Amino acid sequence: MIFAYLGDAPAPAFELPCKDVFEGDDRIVFARSETWDCNWLQLVENSLDAAHVSFVHQKGRIGTFIENVSDAVPTLEFEETDAGIRQIATRGVGNVRVSDWTFPNNNHISVPGLQKDDPWIDIGHWNVPLDDVTTARMNIWAVPRSTPEADRRISDYFEARADYNAADHYRELFYENIFPEDTVMSLTSAQDYLAQRGQGVLADRDNEILGRSDAGIALLRRIFAREMQRLRPVSRQRDGASSNMPRSCRFRWWHREADSTAPRVARPLAAPRADGGRRRAAGRATGVTRDHRDPSAHRSGRELGAK
Ligand SMILES: [Fe+2]
Repeated sequence: MIFAYLGDAPAPAFELPCKDVFEGDDRIVFARSETWDCNWLQLVENSLDAAHVSFVHQKGRIGTFIENVSDAVPTLEFEETDAGIRQIATRGVGNVRVSDWTFPNNNHISVPGLQKDDPWIDIGHWNVPLDDVTTARMNIWAVPRSTPEADRRISDYFEARADYNAADHYRELFYENIFPEDTVMSLTSAQDYLAQRGQGVLADRDNEILGRSDAGIALLRRIFAREMQRLRPVSRQRDGASSNMPRSCRFRWWHREADSTAPRVARPLAAPRADGGRRRAAGRATGVTRDHRDPSAHRSGRELGAK
């Protein structure tokens, strides 16, 4: 995957977040892309809606994802990081998913492996708007290497499904209730497409009603608004306008309807950032019960060269 700056010269200085899990030799990495016929923000906001997993990923057929994560409604926590949002979804003892969102369009998650004993897979999603109603859903799947036989089996799986694009199956999914036979990658994608495209090509946000489980979406919107305000020319900022947007938007929210008595296994959240600036993200997404706050997982693009 290649990242390019396409604006006017000179290119601004920036540090592109990089993660070992997507680049190490101990991983097999598969790149995929789908083009969906809806607005990119619908895909983006889905990333901050961890609760959707318990519902959306049961649609049509029960796949590997929901079998492992369970359909329990999670307790949710959110914390702003240096460059995004860390969200923690707890569905019981030892069932904690941590995702790492990086502005403006990346989500790092982890999902169960293809088979019961396969290692969990790290996924990086980048949602790129092609126009107001078309979005490229680009992602890489990074699978830990294990045995030669397992590596070959997993490689064969991904190569055989590289061309699946849920938007090509609109009628089957929406009107005929036909879902992919593949219960991992294709099914998961089809279910997400159903939920996101199901809002229309451009969701009607004037008439939406956010609920408690939408706290991540609310936080995402607040930070987008705050940062867009900062980008406005000073001459266009009304007196006092900046103070309407909180410089810090740290936010923690709990949804306790599901198993609120279960002990939490997530570690304490990282200390709030001290510099107030936007730098590369710390932390990494993980699967159930894995250590998920190893800052060394991040390296800057400058450290890696022109990545
Ligand atoms: Fe999903």
